[in-house]
Amino acid sequence: MSELTREEKQALIRAAFEARTHAVAPYSHFAVGAALRSADGRVFTGCNIENAALTPTSCAERTALFSAVSQGVTRFTDIAVVGAKMGEVNTLVTSPCGVCRQALYEFCGPSLNVIMAKSEEDFIEASLGELLPYGFGPANIE
Ligand code: THU
Repeated sequence: MSELTREEKQALIRAAFEARTHAVAPYSHFAVGAALRSADGRVFTGCNIENAALTPTSCAERTALFSAVSQGVTRFTDIAVVGAKMGEVNTLVTSPCGVCRQALYEFCGPSLNVIMAKSEEDFIEASLGELLPYGFGPANIE
């Protein structure tokens, strides 16, 4: 359960939409933005960054996560994700891909609140534990 107010969730969604404007998606034309909120209330954003060789592509969620971790921040409570074809509005929510679920699980565990938004008014939420049940994490290899 997220402890954020509705206004704080909407601010996180807004930050994800802003980050989405920087998406580099010349191959899929699908632009994604993510905003990750740290336990101390800071917000780290990311967009998808595609690559001509395809596999080096980074999803928005991992861009945000690795930006935060590279700045020494490793504890998070919520992430907002927004995605749509470039120039179009969201018709479906964008939920984190399997690789991003795993990457987030490493730092956030099952309690991370994932906000999947079509707009600031229209969003659904699920815990990372719901999106990645029986997730494999650091505790498994202790
Ligand atoms: N993508 C994300 O950035 N995040 C997601 O949650 C789903 C997919 C990106 C990867 C690729 O650049 C484009 O969206 C189409 O799959």
